[in-house]
Amino acid sequence: MPTILEALEQRFSTRGYTAEKLTEAERDTLIRAGLQAPTAANRQEIHITVLDGDNPILEEIEAEKNALANIQNPAHNFYYEAPTVMILSGDTAMAWSAVDAGIAVQNIALAAEGLGLGSVILGCIKAALNGEKSEYFSKALRFPENYGYQVAIAVGHKAVTKAPHEYSAEKNVTIL
Ligand SMILES: Cc1cc2nc3c(=O)[nH]c(=O)nc-3n(C[C@H](O)[C@H](O)[C@H](O)COP(=O)(O)O)c2cc1C
Repeated sequence: MPTILEALEQRFSTRGYTAEKLTEAERDTLIRAGLQAPTAANRQEIHITVLDGDNPILEEIEAEKNALANIQNPAHNFYYEAPTVMILSGDTAMAWSAVDAGIAVQNIALAAEGLGLGSVILGCIKAALNGEKSEYFSKALRFPENYGYQVAIAVGHKAVTKAPHEYSAEKNVTIL
């Protein structure tokens, strides 16, 4: 298993998966990683909806996303046919829910890397889940009362590879 620093270096957004499902133990490790994330004031308000890739609600979300963005015949669905999708929702009245969900989803991504799995964080369904069908989707995804979509992640066995992204410390960092 990679160290945390190795996982950070190796991780890349995986946009292609094999059909192999996650084991229950792998799924539970990812859930635990999400729940172990720090949250503002230790509110632990982030809710995780876990779905198999063949859950019909995902097709409905895909259709709504495509309708809103006027996309016809996409090359892949929004979760790249991954066997598992996790949708994180948070209390819409809480100022830190988006940050808390971001930390939780990165915990899940790194845990996936630790297990030798691939993942990709998913923001592209935001308009679909927060739009006029938000009540319908929130109910179908069993979000707690007054919760809204924050972010999602697809996880599975990697069928593709990609170099980790490049970055510029010169541009993005100031050391005083
Ligand atoms: C908040 C957020 C939302 C993202 N949404 C999507 C998405 O909807 N679809 C997608 O393919 N990748 C998505 N990504 C992945 C980014 O495109 C990716 O992290 C970036 O291109 C850098 O590549 P890397 O993750 O391989 O290093 C998202 C990443 C973040 C942090």
